Amino acid sequence: MGEQSDRQWWRDAVIYEVYPRSFADADGDGTGDLAGVLSRLDHLVELGVDAIWCTPWYASPMADGGYDVADYRAIDPAFGTLADAERLITEALTRGIRTIVDVVPNHVSAQHPWFQAALAAAPGSPERARFWFRPGRGDGGTEMPTRWRSEFGGDTWTRTKNADGTPGEWYLHLFSADQPDLNWSHPDVRREHEDVLRFWFDRGVAGVRIDSAALLVKDPALPEVPAEPGPGEHPAVDRDDLHDIYRGWRAVADSYPGERILVGEIWLPDVERFVRYLRPDELHTAFNFDFLARPWDAEQLRASIDATLAAHAPVGAPATWVLSNHDVTRPVTRYGRADSSFAFTAKRAGTPTDLALGTRRARAAALLTAALPGSLYLYQGDELGLPEHEGLDDDLRRDPMFLRSGGVDPGREGCRVPLPWSGDAPPFGFGPADATAPTWLPQPADWAELTVEAQVGDPRSMLALYRAALRIRRAELNGVEGMSWLPSAAGVLAFDRGSAFRCVVNLSAQPVPLPPHTAVLLVSTPLQDGALPADAAAWLRTGIDQ
Ligand code: NOJ
Repeated sequence: MGEQSDRQWWRDAVIYEVYPRSFADADGDGTGDLAGVLSRLDHLVELGVDAIWCTPWYASPMADGGYDVADYRAIDPAFGTLADAERLITEALTRGIRTIVDVVPNHVSAQHPWFQAALAAAPGSPERARFWFRPGRGDGGTEMPTRWRSEFGGDTWTRTKNADGTPGEWYLHLFSADQPDLNWSHPDVRREHEDVLRFWFDRGVAGVRIDSAALLVKDPALPEVPAEPGPGEHPAVDRDDLHDIYRGWRAVADSYPGERILVGEIWLPDVERFVRYLRPDELHTAFNFDFLARPWDAEQLRASIDATLAAHAPVGAPATWVLSNHDVTRPVTRYGRADSSFAFTAKRAGTPTDLALGTRRARAAALLTAALPGSLYLYQGDELGLPEHEGLDDDLRRDPMFLRSGGVDPGREGCRVPLPWSGDAPPFGFGPADATAPTWLPQPADWAELTVEAQVGDPRSMLALYRAALRIRRAELNGVEGMSWLPSAAGVLAFDRGSAFRCVVNLSAQPVPLPPHTAVLLVSTPLQDGALPADAAAWLRTGIDQ
């Protein structure tokens, strides 16, 4: 990448999330792999993305889809080899696409050598000091050290056995028992992760997505969670000491040429606390989940946009716009429901869903988010308008959210189904033509119209809309700062970017007239007698006389 393209590319980049297990399968074993991603780079070039973020590709028992890492410097054999990763990073870059890797610092796999050594060592040993081992409370230590609830539901402590088979200490895991939490006050932990960053930056990655970035530090006194924790008062969330860790990481990133970035996965309701992670010597950006969680409602979305931009301005960091990822219900499904908000605690699986309406709204939402100032995240398959796969058999579900809730929570497999590339029936070109192994999750039989092949030739398809939107965005909006709202009717969002670009989104139930413009650049749904229909968006050219 030349000096010109090294400008602060991340401030308005379009970043495409690749879930390698489900993107494309080159070796025909039913599981996606890095050679598969390499073989499909043209799709991403045609789509017009600036970077890919690959979810964990490291050696892992896959208890949590790879977010249980056994070796941060090795590629899981199911995905390929380190040489495949290096080839992908290089080849993508020659096509103008940067690569962002996913680093998981809060926890490791229970199979990680550090944890295995800790289990084998005695209480109080240096091996155990890298984790949170504690004796239990009460008689015989039978009660867990705290009653914290896991992010996946259920308990956060699991009891170990001593060498003689008697019950031993407990260890902390904010997620599943297969994901023991690291102790971030231990110098080994800090040193090791800075080294892992260098390992991947040395291989040319442009950035790092930081998993569960607000959870790493715990209050060493391990108190119970207060009934209503104030800012910074939760014993395991958003602790002030985190900032020093990220300042160290930023120094590592800044020691490399070419604007290497740190992107935080930070779920925090308090936007003021959220942007503290984005101060100039900390992370570059963080995912804006507030926007993602809002329902399809003009006032709600506007409130989120305003709060986001206002909070980011003082720290000088760009906002991010995210409609979905590998953890949340697909937008086409979400927006087709009476309650279109998102919450982990209420996924509303199986509630009535109007997919035609959801698709129409997801198209409008695509134009809304792609027009906002900041960087844009796009999850694989959303460019095809894939719905959530709600018909998966329960016995195929392995997600800890499903397993730990006893099946009450459907889990996240429904948005992780292998992509449909071509053909009329599963596996829709996911693997080579002669592959006989079934895809690791079955695809719905009725996805023939959703394949890349079917959509490429159809100007009304979701893929055609995304391709056009990203092309126009790159030409018209890169480098354009800020936005300004226009007066608009209730249920309508209208704003300008710069002096020649206008976006209008109709979330009301009636068609509305378009605001003044000199040309229509793109619509999510055809205009009706010149008016913008309900649940539709338009991008307009405006002139100096408007
Ligand atoms: C967030 C990741 O996106 C999710 O998939 C994972 O289960 C948790 N962090 C735990 O690593």
